Amino acid sequence: MDEIKYNPKTDYGTPTSQSTKKVTLTVDDRQVTVPDGVSIMHAAALAGVTVPKLCATDSLEPFGSCRLCLVEIEGRRGYPASCTTPVAEGLVVHTQTSKLADIRRGTMELYISDHPLDCLTCATNGDCELQDMAGAVGLREVRYGYDGENHLKSAKDESNPYFTFDPSKCIVCSRCVRACEETQGTFALTISGRGFDSKVSAGNKSFLDSECVSCGACVQACPTATLIEKTVIEAGTPEHSVTTTCAYCGVGCSFDAEMKGEEVVRMTPSKHGGANHGHSCVKGRFAWGYATHKDRITTPMIRKSIKDPWQQVGWDEAINYAASELSRINEKYGKDAIGGITSSRCTNEEVYVTQKLIRAVFGVNNVDTCARVCHSPTGYGLKQTLGESAGTQTFDSVMQSDVIFIIGANPTDGHPVFASQMKRRLREGAKLIIADPREIDLVANSPHVRADYHLKLRPGTNVALVSALAHVIVTEGLVQEDFVKARCEWDSFVAWQDFVSMPQNSPEALSEEIGVKAEDIRAAARLYATGGNAAIYYGLGVTEHSQGSTAVMGIANLAMATANIGREGVGVNPLRGQNNVQGSCDMGSMPHEFPGYRHVADYATRALFESAWGRPLSSEPGLRIPNMLDEAIEGSFKGLYCVGEDIVQSDPNTQHVTHALENMECVIVQDLFLNETAMFAHVFFPGASFLEKSGTFTNAERRISPVRRVMKPKNGYEDWEVTAKLSEALGYPMGYQHASEIMDEIALLTPTFHGVSFKKLDELGSIQWPCNEEHPNGTPIMHIDEFVRGKGKFFITQYVPTTEKVNAKFPLILTTGRILSQYNVGAQTRRTQNTAWHPEDILEIHPHDAEDRGIKEGDWVGIASRAGETVLRAKITERVQVGVVYTTFHHPESGANVITTDNSDWATNCPEYKVTAVQVSRVSQLSDWQKHYKSFSEAQIAFAGKKAEAI
Ligand code: SF4
Ligand code: SF4
Ligand code: SF4
Ligand code: FES
Repeated sequence: MDEIKYNPKTDYGTPTSQSTKKVTLTVDDRQVTVPDGVSIMHAAALAGVTVPKLCATDSLEPFGSCRLCLVEIEGRRGYPASCTTPVAEGLVVHTQTSKLADIRRGTMELYISDHPLDCLTCATNGDCELQDMAGAVGLREVRYGYDGENHLKSAKDESNPYFTFDPSKCIVCSRCVRACEETQGTFALTISGRGFDSKVSAGNKSFLDSECVSCGACVQACPTATLIEKTVIEAGTPEHSVTTTCAYCGVGCSFDAEMKGEEVVRMTPSKHGGANHGHSCVKGRFAWGYATHKDRITTPMIRKSIKDPWQQVGWDEAINYAASELSRINEKYGKDAIGGITSSRCTNEEVYVTQKLIRAVFGVNNVDTCARVCHSPTGYGLKQTLGESAGTQTFDSVMQSDVIFIIGANPTDGHPVFASQMKRRLREGAKLIIADPREIDLVANSPHVRADYHLKLRPGTNVALVSALAHVIVTEGLVQEDFVKARCEWDSFVAWQDFVSMPQNSPEALSEEIGVKAEDIRAAARLYATGGNAAIYYGLGVTEHSQGSTAVMGIANLAMATANIGREGVGVNPLRGQNNVQGSCDMGSMPHEFPGYRHVADYATRALFESAWGRPLSSEPGLRIPNMLDEAIEGSFKGLYCVGEDIVQSDPNTQHVTHALENMECVIVQDLFLNETAMFAHVFFPGASFLEKSGTFTNAERRISPVRRVMKPKNGYEDWEVTAKLSEALGYPMGYQHASEIMDEIALLTPTFHGVSFKKLDELGSIQWPCNEEHPNGTPIMHIDEFVRGKGKFFITQYVPTTEKVNAKFPLILTTGRILSQYNVGAQTRRTQNTAWHPEDILEIHPHDAEDRGIKEGDWVGIASRAGETVLRAKITERVQVGVVYTTFHHPESGANVITTDNSDWATNCPEYKVTAVQVSRVSQLSDWQKHYKSFSEAQIAFAGKKAEAI
């Protein structure tokens, strides 16, 4: 049988089956062959027969409560529910008989008799399954009045900022409850009461106060207007939709932007999204309002000095001014005085044209990206060991994992949709090892998920832990030698084996340093090495250290030694923070590499780009962001083109960053908002939101997904067009008419992208690179038969403790992380109602440390480090260990990076954000930075408000 083609717009009622066995049955005289294990309802849908249903939907397991989907099966008695009855070979099924019609009409009559009949004014009129079913079963009259008991006066819950819950419309089908359990894994909802008193309950609390994380799965599943988006209530049902990609995290969820004219009414997760399969989190699903926020700047602005007020100008004037300033700097100080910074919020095409501009126009490689401050050690470490700077798996691969090992990542907050999938696998029985200094939600707050081992290590000791785990694997004979011999450089393995088996790398020797009992390290190592398919997922808790690259290499060593790489269910998986961290690195936004991770010193690669771009290119690696800042302070770096990145807020040691920016003569900021870096800018190019442009994002599993323009850019241009215009004004026209032509050029010049085009993305939905002649439809799992570098290479990972030491003056370690509702520096999410969940950053402190300092819950506390100081409110919790404090960094006024230091990874300069020695004490006023920020921010807000009125 040919592969079944599923239509993303059809609800097949119940999920499909993975069985390869097929069965053939007849439904209403149509013969259909389907996978064994699907329901009769699903088979009917595949045969083109629609069976009435209410409690079933194909994203959830069948439940069988509404009794609307009954069918007759020849040779069987009664009227089985088609949603809960599996197919069998040779069945003959009838879905439309007069008896079935009577039963269904009777059932619908009961539903409708307890339902407000306000269809004409209901927000889901025309988009309501209850309404559809009343029509489908031919209900023409309801014999029961509203005189008896009913639910029509039940009070609405409007506490959630994005959706309402109107119990008067609830038919108690339980789809919402099941969506919260099966799809999201939060278990926030139950059906409380029995019989007539049954009702949906969020733990007897309002939705906002409950465990609900506002993922929207219940709203999506609800067949009535009971759970409904507030935007639909306000704007009415959407008229058309365009599939695009979320602009937030590295999961890269696909969404249907559902529109009315040029206005987005709602974002609905796309069922056929390769990364999300119809699921979403609060950010992608609901927090898109920033795109039309009044703070957006839509007119270009210039000023001679950062002390001058901004002047609104037309695009031509702004572009020409920026070009003349960069040319002046080039002539006066030389090309080395100029550089560009891109962001992982940019599309691949935007990153590509920006690095092309800097390299081709100025003949210098001073281009860097925000991955410098997050996953640059991943790029380095995985390239060295495996040969490719990217994760090895698909997200779906986790469903084949027997052991999930999470190091320095917090998936439920940072990568929530993938976390839901991971939790599903854990509920099915996979084992879980977590290495994290703090009790992340998977340890502390995930129903039906239990960490088998939580290695609550001291911040900064990842490399020691990885060596200790390796010691156990090697000395207890758990190495998969056949795999290592066949697939890896044997000499490198022997050297590594000798190193890790030394007594000083044993769990017993390192236990005190790591802060974890030796027996727990031993048990976790055994489980990882012998528990079946074991997959490692790691995040910034691994990379943002002085030994970030070493830890990444150590993780790859573990996977190679245990043969946990090169197939489903295993692998080394960096969870990328922002939507396009992978893509921005792929696109050559590092000072030493052209697109596709090819070194600038490589003659053949340089010749390829020189011939395509028609300009001589430099063979010298350019400046990294920290080098640009250092050289600006020294006076030799003068001109910066900064696209989509806010280095004042996101880079460490804010004072150092601002001092450097003050020393530059032309800072060009291209962004949606006047961000903190714009305080120091001379030119402001207004950016376009993800809804206003075309391009692609590449997620953490190397999946390239289309970003489609759903409305005209409010500033007049897509971001790549602005860069191309600047390039033209600098005498180097790029000549693209559409973003697709940029991708065509990327594909032409980059072997791993040879097969990628917008046309193919339209056909396939998304593509995991490498995509080329060898892999025309992409590569879900990497390193299957051999590593990209040929043989995998083991590296010795000598633990070197950080120089950031605690002492009497700074006795605590500050570490940082993210929270679900906010995103990075918060520029987008702070301009949405997500602030309902996280209005400010807070400092988590252990009760003992709080008591020692006389700190009570909610007190203002000063946090002082060797770099600076800031003030936050205290939250007392045992989720952090004694001696460690923790905060998020989503609000600029928190000044988290005022206190982080200049320490960085030895190989890549990735800042050591995760370890800062601090002292914490009660205070009564804001820090100097915060006072400064407050006055600046008030001025900026007033300014942006004025502009919004004027525009
Ligand atoms: S809220 Fe919606 S999905 Fe949940 S039980 Fe009621 S009707 Fe069904
Ligand atoms: S929004 Fe998500 S977390 Fe909240 S109740 Fe619905 S399904 Fe559960
Ligand atoms: S923020 Fe991440 S998990 Fe949430 S919807 Fe967007 S891509 Fe998906
Ligand atoms: S759809 Fe089958 S019982 Fe509800």
